Amino acid sequence: MTQIFSRISGTGRCLPERILTNRELEKIVDTTDEWIRARTGIERRHIAADDQTTADLAEGAARQAMEAAGVAPSEIDFLVVGTTTPDVVFPNVGCLLQERLGIGGFAAFSVEAACSGFIYALSIADRFIAGGQAKRALVIGAETLSRITDWTDRSTAVIFGDGAGAVVLEPSTEAGIISTHLGADGHYKDLLYHPYGTSRRQQPDDVEGPFIHMKGNEVFKVAVKTLEGIVDETMSANDLERGSIDWLIPHQANLRIIQLTAKRLGMSMEKVILTLQDHGNTSAASVPMALDVAVRDGRVRRGDLLLLEAFGGGFTWGSALIRY
Ligand code: ACO
Repeated sequence: MTQIFSRISGTGRCLPERILTNRELEKIVDTTDEWIRARTGIERRHIAADDQTTADLAEGAARQAMEAAGVAPSEIDFLVVGTTTPDVVFPNVGCLLQERLGIGGFAAFSVEAACSGFIYALSIADRFIAGGQAKRALVIGAETLSRITDWTDRSTAVIFGDGAGAVVLEPSTEAGIISTHLGADGHYKDLLYHPYGTSRRQQPDDVEGPFIHMKGNEVFKVAVKTLEGIVDETMSANDLERGSIDWLIPHQANLRIIQLTAKRLGMSMEKVILTLQDHGNTSAASVPMALDVAVRDGRVRRGDLLLLEAFGGGFTWGSALIRY
């Protein structure tokens, strides 16, 4: 029996119009453009309008990806969204999108795995396509992190941004998505978290507030070590030598983390897709947006070998080796 793989047939992204520069942030918190560039690599980020939600951005990215794939909304039969900033608790963002796209009757859900959300979503959709249970999947990473950012906290306010990226996955006799690797370790829950949901209510005397809290320096160290582990695992699972990847498409959290991962892979920075200077850290949206940027500007071409990776709150992490 011929093995079925999933392959990416189209990509898309959607960013809010409003751009917030480092210089503007200097007026909001005690920081400098120089510090932000030197410590993170970020220069600007997009911020959602007051009436713009995660589903709005997801819809924009999804429509672009479907257009690129030449697929009509009515042909989609699986929809998964990586997000930690859903519009509402339920319906999930996938269901909200079904309604907007005028489709339904198939599985639609969101995956909550912070910055690894898109890789988790991609991995799930890949299994459904490869198992013959879905024919055309929309896989999205979408976030409005500005809604859970404390704009008085300089250690997080300079980092995050909003956006959405999407891909359409279809079956193929050739890979495609070659392998995906996922991991998580909840013991690190206190290094990076958002303290409120629906079950754990905010207490009146609570000083933390409904925002992202991050012990950046400690997260940094675990991120570097974990990403080294996941790229090593991906390479050895596929018998790949250092230097055999055409493009590294990393989660865009910090330029220094990305440089260390590239070094581990024996890759020059010319072979790394960087968007964090323009997008900041958009959590689950960062990897699919970076992929879309590189596809549309012609760097990533059909047949290229891509390594996607991400690390985020949880901690969660993941990678995907893809023959584009
Ligand atoms: N402007 C100026 N100074 C600042 C700022 C700022 N915005 N933020 C912190 N500082 C200061 C600190 O107060 C500290 O000052 P001190 O030395 O006087 O105490 C100094 O800069 C160094 O602070 P660190 O936190 O050690 O700075 P670091 O070099 O580690 O950079 C950063 C911080 C950018 C957050 C980095 O640690 C990082 O990127 N961490 C990893 C983030 C990540 O990968 N997160 C996972 C994904 S996110 C998700 O899942 C939602």
